[in-house]
Amino acid sequence: MVKIGVIGSCAVDLVVTSSKRPGAGETVLGESFKVVPGGKGANQAVAAARLGAEAVMIGRVGKDNFGEVILNNFRSNHISVSHVEPVTYCESGTAHIVLAEGDNSIVVVKGANDLVTPEYIEQKLDVIREMDMILIQQEIPEETVLYVSQICAEMNIPLLLNPAPARAVDPSVIEKAAYLTPNEHEAAIVFDGLSASEALRKYPNKLFITEGAQGVRYFDGQQEILVPAYKVEAVDTTGAGDTFNAAFAVALAEGKPIYESVRFANRAASLSVTKFGAQGGMPTREEVEGSL
Ligand code: RIB
Ligand code: NA
Repeated sequence: MVKIGVIGSCAVDLVVTSSKRPGAGETVLGESFKVVPGGKGANQAVAAARLGAEAVMIGRVGKDNFGEVILNNFRSNHISVSHVEPVTYCESGTAHIVLAEGDNSIVVVKGANDLVTPEYIEQKLDVIREMDMILIQQEIPEETVLYVSQICAEMNIPLLLNPAPARAVDPSVIEKAAYLTPNEHEAAIVFDGLSASEALRKYPNKLFITEGAQGVRYFDGQQEILVPAYKVEAVDTTGAGDTFNAAFAVALAEGKPIYESVRFANRAASLSVTKFGAQGGMPTREEVEGSL
């Protein structure tokens, strides 16, 4: 069993479905409202656990009802909550999601995720040291991502940075990370001034640009490779990126070659979109392997 440490956000997703997305100043009538677990960090931990890894979550929640929902969800997915500390002085992270016209739009309120600080991570070094790979995203403070990139480099633990949601990334983080997985929009911000092709060539076998239904692109040192996505009937694409990242990390940590790891992750991501909710369709190991 590989050990995947996820340092990131936990949230409750408040999801409405509507046939129409409201414009500014407009009110529309939606069809449904659901409360489901989410947050990029938590989603990645759950996906890694379902795929057979030992997933360790390092994060924070508020000492509130949503915090309880988040912790219970970790427990039912066999993820230890020892390093997800509830705080009394801040609410849990929430994501306000509208599913309309075949796509989602999301407002994230970070809440307790903003308290995943370098000082907090510093208390977790002994846990981090035990990991085969660390996964991190950008719903936590920028200084934390920088700090984690430094400690992973010191401890010689491969770091996978999923630079989502989009924001500029410190050049030293780009250098220290073993893998970077932006989508096209995030890549344009992270590699400002470089075309996607130029960025891919600059970071062979390290930069993986996810292109949704198209697939995933990287440069293997010789040529640009597009690993095509699997065609599925998408119900809800929320969390597809998280499933991809977790599956990619699990496969790489197990020592699978890069191309095979991307295929495995593409398959997992494609299965995840066939059900409602970020974690709804996240597949088990057997489901992915049975359909490769
Ligand atoms: O990546 C999907 C996640 O992003 C959702 O679960 C939501 O919480 C948002 O943060
Ligand atoms: Na889903």
